[in-house]
Amino acid sequence: MNEACTEEEDSTQSDIEIVPAISKDIEGIATVLRESFPGKAKYYKIRSWEHESKKILRSDKGWITFIAVHQGRIVGVLAARHLKTVIPTVRIEWIAVAKSFRRRGIGKALFDHLTRWITTAFFDQQVRITLRARTDVQNFYRKLGLRCYGRGWMKKRIGGQNDELDQSGAARNGK
Ligand SMILES: CC(C)(COP(=O)(O)OP(=O)(O)OC[C@H]1O[C@@H](n2cnc3c(N)ncnc32)[C@H](O)[C@@H]1OP(=O)(O)O)[C@@H](O)C(=O)NCCC(=O)NCCS
Repeated sequence: MNEACTEEEDSTQSDIEIVPAISKDIEGIATVLRESFPGKAKYYKIRSWEHESKKILRSDKGWITFIAVHQGRIVGVLAARHLKTVIPTVRIEWIAVAKSFRRRGIGKALFDHLTRWITTAFFDQQVRITLRARTDVQNFYRKLGLRCYGRGWMKKRIGGQNDELDQSGAARNGK
């Protein structure tokens, strides 16, 4: 990697702001999702990217959505849902970074932001983060500390002493 490229990446990372998404962000979110999930919206079982972008802003329906912003432009999105299971679950439904901004730590920064948000929102409760991942993206999630537990499903427990509990549970199950 040449020096100019490294400088550009450094400046990108320091210029990224991660904030909760609001209604003025719908178009920008739709653009990132459309670019990141090519093909017809129908394939993803959604009506349209604009409709989905509007839907993921509904905090009253349990949605938690953050965007990564670089110089006013939306370059990343993470949308998750809080499911009221016995151990609270936060299921990541969408995570996407604009093509020209990938591999610069933005996906990880969005995930870390969600983790910090959960730690604050759920205080000392255990929370399970889950998601369904395509095989080609599983190594990205492994780097974030998630592990596979079913066909395409991955999870990570956070908060309290849960990491240890989760690992001993995994050992008991032979996973
Ligand atoms: C998956 C995605 C969100 C990753 O975002 P990103 O900003 O490029 O990821 P980061 O730069 O934060 O990567 C964090 C780490 O994961 C690694 N990584 C990123 N994408 C990876 C991939 N597809 N496979 C394996 N490792 C990957 C990075 O090299 C980095 O490793 P390091 O910490 O050792 O340097 C992005 O590639 C994307 O938007 N893809 C299209 C949409 C998509 O597939 N979403 C997931 C659906 S399951």
